[in-house]
Amino acid sequence: MEKLKALSGEHQLASYEDACQSFEWTQAEALFSWDLTGNVNTAYEAIDRHAEGELATKLALLYFDGEREERYTYEDMKRESNRAGNVLKSVGVEKGDRVFIFMPRSPELYFILLGTLKLGAIVGPLFEAFMEQAVHDRLLDSEAKVIVTTEALLPRIPVDQLPHLETILIVGDEVKEAGKIIDYRKLAGDASTDLDITWVDREDGMILHYTSGSTGKPKGVLHVHNAMVQHLMTGKWVLDLQPDDIYWCTADPGWVTGTSYGIFAPFLNGATNVIVGGRFNPEFWYSVIERFGVTVWYSAPTAFRMLMGAGEEAFEKYDLSSLRHILSVGEPLNPEVIRWGNESFGLRIHDTWWMTETGAMMICNYPTMDIKPGSMGKAIPGCEAAILDDRGQPLPPHRMGNLALKTPWPSMMRKIWKNDAKYESYFWGDWYVSGDSAYMDEDGYFWFQGRVDDVIMTAGERVGPFEVESRLVEHPAVAEAGVIGKPDPVRGEIIKAFIALRKGYEPSDELKAEIQKFVKEGLAAHAAPREIEFKDKLPKTRSGKIMRRVLKAWELNLETGDLSTMED
Ligand code: WTA
Repeated sequence: MEKLKALSGEHQLASYEDACQSFEWTQAEALFSWDLTGNVNTAYEAIDRHAEGELATKLALLYFDGEREERYTYEDMKRESNRAGNVLKSVGVEKGDRVFIFMPRSPELYFILLGTLKLGAIVGPLFEAFMEQAVHDRLLDSEAKVIVTTEALLPRIPVDQLPHLETILIVGDEVKEAGKIIDYRKLAGDASTDLDITWVDREDGMILHYTSGSTGKPKGVLHVHNAMVQHLMTGKWVLDLQPDDIYWCTADPGWVTGTSYGIFAPFLNGATNVIVGGRFNPEFWYSVIERFGVTVWYSAPTAFRMLMGAGEEAFEKYDLSSLRHILSVGEPLNPEVIRWGNESFGLRIHDTWWMTETGAMMICNYPTMDIKPGSMGKAIPGCEAAILDDRGQPLPPHRMGNLALKTPWPSMMRKIWKNDAKYESYFWGDWYVSGDSAYMDEDGYFWFQGRVDDVIMTAGERVGPFEVESRLVEHPAVAEAGVIGKPDPVRGEIIKAFIALRKGYEPSDELKAEIQKFVKEGLAAHAAPREIEFKDKLPKTRSGKIMRRVLKAWELNLETGDLSTMED
């Protein structure tokens, strides 16, 4: 235990190297109440435990969206998540059921998410920008029983096509109840603020995040309650959360960063957590830092680049001196952005690498480590990362290959929902293979090189080309479509679609705009191609698969490589 205290005490990872040598995850488990009681539930550890202890009256959640501003202590959070749990219970939610939350950020979203976990149910957070097709695919695949949403988003839920969906709870002021539609606030107003938590097994399902691969529809990545072990520790080690910190993670809970680090890590650590609603806007973001005195800030390269682009004027209006630690995730963090961070805040931006599937940070720059700009950092204690060749053999330093992680680790996904074959395909023996290519240097720092597959990272959001292509070919004018990520200085990548038109359609700017709108309205604005290029024909394999690799080579003026599998 002494060792662990050193790890979790005043200043995080005093010696990274020592920690890696001696740390074992079982040590971290001793920091939870379930170590003594055997009663497991992440929502209890994140909220109730603090509410019942010294942190009862500490501020837990600070919400602001430019208009609505609310503050909740840990005691308040306990009460409000109990209330939400009781509402869900009253509509029949039980352990293991899937409850989806599809709404813009608001305090209720957080209460409902925690309330779902308190019932032992599995929560599925959906990004508010999703349109009908995207919502349909996720609810159908997961066989969701309940969805909580708002009046504005209701039209995007194709109720008739979702046989398992029993209840739609609407959070709003004047809700018209009909059929499956129920007024959430009416129930919440009458609900008790006492709730018996449903204790679960550490390996029971907790959260289902749908994410994209290079093939097929988005897949449901299931995380279990045991993930809290890694959320807690990375919150200490990497976010460096201290008792007085005001922490702000800018990610939406529709994405994994917005739950693992927008909810679990900060609350497990008893931090004060800032939640900001509304859209990105440089001045507004700076004003949030000033308003709340944010000290630890976790965001993404695209946001930093947009702030950079907004220039000095936006920056100089605000007092940002409260900041002491800045972190980044989701895309390569360019050295240029690190330089900007240095000049603007006098702070180095710390990169972190992980994925929806890993559930929590895996490769990081710790506060105490020397940062090599352009590198993602080193593996966290208790985890081992390596670069493998295509046969699964570890490669020596400076050789580029498949970035892989030794299984298991506490927050590793446990399942791809209803798709065991897909789950198995991630593993090569003991190794989880990430789909990223990277190399390691002689000091154990990892350097990102790109994706091995066709997954697109645009403005930090992960988009599968297949989902976009499937939507494109539903448009009456589109015969064939191939989608790639095109490098972009601000967004990392943008989505570019190559399209062959059906007979009788002519290329035009109007048609481009119409097709873009069609994808936006079907999937989501961030999934719509920013660029469209019409072609007479697309490169295909003899079995009819569109060769994205060739499209990419066209786009970047690269060699097209081996074309032996291409038709004529
Ligand atoms: C990419 C987000 C470079 C990577 C938490 C990974 C990064 C994918 C970094 C996962 C980083 C994440 N540098 N690339 N620091 N962090 N990525 O599932 O390609 O939305 O495989 O999880 O984002 O995206 P996901």
